[in-house]
Amino acid sequence: MNDIEKQPKNWIPSPFQNAARNLAKDAVKQFVNQKDIKVIGLGSGPMAAEIVRQMKIGIKNEKTIECVVTSFQIKLEAEYSGLKVVDEGRIPEIDVVFDGADEIDSNYNMIKGGGGALLKEKIVHLAAKKVVIAAESKKFVNKFSWPVPIEVSPFAISIVIKELEQKADGRPKLRMLNEGYPYVTENGNFILDTRFDFSTISNIRKKEVELKTIPGIVEVGLFTRYADVYYKANSDGTFETIKL
Ligand code: A5P
Repeated sequence: MNDIEKQPKNWIPSPFQNAARNLAKDAVKQFVNQKDIKVIGLGSGPMAAEIVRQMKIGIKNEKTIECVVTSFQIKLEAEYSGLKVVDEGRIPEIDVVFDGADEIDSNYNMIKGGGGALLKEKIVHLAAKKVVIAAESKKFVNKFSWPVPIEVSPFAISIVIKELEQKADGRPKLRMLNEGYPYVTENGNFILDTRFDFSTISNIRKKEVELKTIPGIVEVGLFTRYADVYYKANSDGTFETIKL
């Protein structure tokens, strides 16, 4: 058995594992096992992976469900679970997206892209009739403090760093691999993990739009299309459901 054939690892910290499993079971019941659900978008990361694992166990309509994936990581998870993966032609038909988040502020904006899949995630969020987000309780914050992943064309990296520093009040840092090479996204781009002083930013949507006007920036990890449902995983194994 080679590495690709082995079951992917679970990276959710152990205090939250039970809650993740419980909320994932609920998500499958509420949002997958429904007769009008046909195309599912899968975000990337451990939370999305947990939902896929629970789909493997609890799904009742697997013969008619098709999945659009946002990374090779979640594609492997979906295939391991026996789900049918379809290509991007199905994006306009996505009924529901399941995804995680790196941080969620008090207005339910999100920072995403910790795993580098922000571009495809933002596209499936845009298309989906319903977006369902699951995250550990500690990721629900009043104001953002995480750096914002910004996906940048390698050709533009030096000018985008300059623009972010001099015009957007950002402190960008090129994402690196442990081996000392720059991290490259599945789209062939770099990521600038960029710190902003969010205590001075009241309109997150405006900041997202401002950043997206800089040529060379492919996508910004500020997600301001609110999800329809947020699952909050607690460390005691319980979860809460927030519907907007
Ligand atoms: C992938 O690039 C990210 O946007 C993930 O959705 C994000 O990092 C959340 O991952 P978790 O599953 O760890 O919450």
